[in-house]
Amino acid sequence: MIERLAVIGVGLIGGSLARALRGAAMVREIIGYGRSLPNLERARELGVIDGFSPDLGKAVEGADLVFVSVPLGAMRGVFEAIRDRLSPRAILTDGGSVKGSVVADAAAAFGRVPSRLVPGHPIAGTERSGVEASFPELFRHRRVILTPLPETDPQALERVEWMWRTCGAEVSRMSVAHHDEVLAATSHLPHMLAFGLVDALARMDETDEIFRYAAGGFRDFTRIASSNPVMWRDICMANREALSAMLARFGVELADLAEGIRRGDGERLLSIFERAKAARDRYVEGAATHPNAAAPQQE
Ligand SMILES: NC(=O)c1ccc[n+]([C@@H]2O[C@H](COP(=O)([O-])OP(=O)(O)OC[C@H]3O[C@@H](n4cnc5c(N)ncnc54)[C@H](OP(=O)(O)O)[C@@H]3O)[C@@H](O)[C@H]2O)c1
Repeated sequence: MIERLAVIGVGLIGGSLARALRGAAMVREIIGYGRSLPNLERARELGVIDGFSPDLGKAVEGADLVFVSVPLGAMRGVFEAIRDRLSPRAILTDGGSVKGSVVADAAAAFGRVPSRLVPGHPIAGTERSGVEASFPELFRHRRVILTPLPETDPQALERVEWMWRTCGAEVSRMSVAHHDEVLAATSHLPHMLAFGLVDALARMDETDEIFRYAAGGFRDFTRIASSNPVMWRDICMANREALSAMLARFGVELADLAEGIRRGDGERLLSIFERAKAARDRYVEGAATHPNAAAPQQE
């Protein structure tokens, strides 16, 4: 049981964690923090949190577990504001989409990485944000990656694993650097393609006509371009090395495709498409056996 959970950033991720833990009757009291009062009041009305404080330090006082789910660009400021207000037994964890930046921000704010910090990332989400978008099943049968460091307290790590399992998630562990490389490929690159494609089309003269004739494939492919721009700006800034490397690799692939088309090299195109189809079919078959296969997934 968590006695007092502080959720810093009661949005999609923080709100969903609060709802899931409450639904599982695994938390006694939930205190929220955010900048906008209406969002916090709404969160309380919805029963997502029991109370809130406009003062970050106060919000974490007496909490045995603190979950930080603000955009990555706000992490360091949050760590600095709570540094001297955390109870010594408090476990600090987060849901940020990039782990290297969170660890660096914590080290800068605390003077070293706190042993009771357990960096984490739920691989779940939707393109919507705010507490209204949160729901208790968001993490059910989804993966959560924890990226403990050598100095991470094993008991804190176990506690955070337990918390996510309570929400129905499958927890795995990997290194910070590996996490950021894998996510650059599987999540950050596809978001760049969706944002880039929609922006390019939106700036063409015939925009209205192009969108009028866009079919289901366009809608499916570009759904993630409706995601929160601030969050994605922060992800790009926080993971720029790994993401730049992925974009460069993908640029080579795209140039290869373009060259095949320019030369009218049907054989080349067919072999690329067959290879891609086989890889995706394998992935979809594997995903279809998963209990949460029908639910939308973001990251
Ligand atoms: N959405 C996804 O698919 C997804 C998936 C996995 C991980 N994540 C990560 O989870 C974190 C939260 O994302 P989310 O989707 O839950 O976003 P969200 O729905 O927009 O919620 C973010 C919350 O943080 C608060 N916030 C924003 N800026 C802040 C600041 N400068 N200082 C303090 N609080 C601030 C917001 O409230 P106020 O505006 O009232 O302050 C809001 O309640 C991000 O680090 C993101 O990378 C997101």
